[in-house]
Amino acid sequence: MEGFIKVATVGELKGKPYKTFRFLTKSFAVFPEASGGFYAMEVNCKHQNANLLATPCKGEIVECSRHGWKFNLRTGECLTQPWARLRRIPIQIVGDEIWVCPTRFLDSEA
Ligand code: FES
Repeated sequence: MEGFIKVATVGELKGKPYKTFRFLTKSFAVFPEASGGFYAMEVNCKHQNANLLATPCKGEIVECSRHGWKFNLRTGECLTQPWARLRRIPIQIVGDEIWVCPTRFLDSEA
């Protein structure tokens, strides 16, 4: 698992909508999936880099507190600027531990 770092445990996310973490200058979050798995995604606004989860968000759609761009936190889609998609990063579950690789983006590998 070269390049992966531990960012949470499965137990920490139980009953919570996400857990945020930082890597270098970027903000990310791990989210539970309805199917029982997890995914991880960058959560810096694609406009001017504001942390989209600096204030708690309960639903799937988050609105940037700085200039109002809206993003879907499940799909990564930007509802304001279609080119400004949030990207997912690789994730691995090892026992109760959640590991991510914040230096690679899954969507750019397609
Ligand atoms: S920084 Fe998010 S809309 Fe401008």
